[in-house]
Amino acid sequence: MKLYSRITGTGSYLPPRRLTNADLAAELAAKGVETSDEWIVERTGIRARHFAAPDVCSSDLGLEAARLALQAAGVQATDIDLIIVATSTPDMVFPSTACILQNKLGAHGGAAFDVQAVCSGFVYALSIADAMIKTGAATKALVIGAEVFSRILDFTDRTTCVLFGDGAGAVVLEASDTPGILASDLHADGKHAGILCVPGHVSGGQVLGDPLLKMDGQAVFKLAVGLLDTAARNTLAKAGKVAADVDWLVPHQANIRIMQSTARKLKLSMDKVIVTVDQHGNTSAASIPLALDTAVRAGRVKPGEMLLLEAVGGGFTWGALLLQL
Ligand code: UT7
Repeated sequence: MKLYSRITGTGSYLPPRRLTNADLAAELAAKGVETSDEWIVERTGIRARHFAAPDVCSSDLGLEAARLALQAAGVQATDIDLIIVATSTPDMVFPSTACILQNKLGAHGGAAFDVQAVCSGFVYALSIADAMIKTGAATKALVIGAEVFSRILDFTDRTTCVLFGDGAGAVVLEASDTPGILASDLHADGKHAGILCVPGHVSGGQVLGDPLLKMDGQAVFKLAVGLLDTAARNTLAKAGKVAADVDWLVPHQANIRIMQSTARKLKLSMDKVIVTVDQHGNTSAASIPLALDTAVRAGRVKPGEMLLLEAVGGGFTWGALLLQL
């Protein structure tokens, strides 16, 4: 049995409809909701986001990202024995988006399931896939973050609707004789569930409660800044590494100010931080694999380099993961 799991390919996909802040502000103004490019850029760093067409689901975005990751890894879909999709915007109540995507990919028979940890979902999913590979439960996994957050946004609430976008990112994770994923540190505290949630649910053929995203932005911001630093340090300690060993910080892309704060606390220069929030907005579980693939394809992040991934999200969930590419 091989001792490690290693990323051998990355892929990502953005739906074609791109809205700049000015485009979104104009659409919102028509509904009587006031915002501006200036406010959004200053408070978040976001300049544009992509929205999927109404008939496009998370599995469709994830499928495109998965195909590109498989191609980069030189792996056939039929060789995949594990698919984990991190999403908070699944295609259906059930089956899982992972099963739907597995069928679209033609990768029948392996294990497939979704992980629901909101914006921390990809870090959770990658950590689970790593554990399954290390125990021999899987040998070639697809780990995907895919979201259509535009479906759950309240476009009358300017404090949230300008922040999020749609997209997907994927990695192929394979059993390997060389490292790989080095360590991870996952946490949750359900007592903060109310600060970031979509409180509605389906019952008796109807949606009960509010099916749109609610967020206390300042409460999330304050928690995020403290928890991310701790999770990053725990992860480094578990791997016997220090922040100076990190070549790239690949953070969840929610707000440039949170990323700057984490980098500052770890004494990492912003040159070592992968930033795509300006072009993607917050794509929740998709944001880290989207950022990773963007950096890999741009030739910035290279094989052999040490990457620190970290995220916070609804739940409240948070975590970090250290890997050698
Ligand atoms: O992915 C999960 C993790 N999520 C996050 O990490 C989000 C964390 N939170 C944040 O990123 C920030 O808290 C926000 C970007 C959501 C908000 O930034 P802020 O600096 O905390 O702004 P604020 O909520 O204190 O609002 C400041 C002002 C308010 O006006 P008053 O009360 O000072 O008059 C808001 O009404 O900005 C106003 N405002 C807006 N103005 C124009 C809020 N949203 C907008 C908007 N356009 N879209």
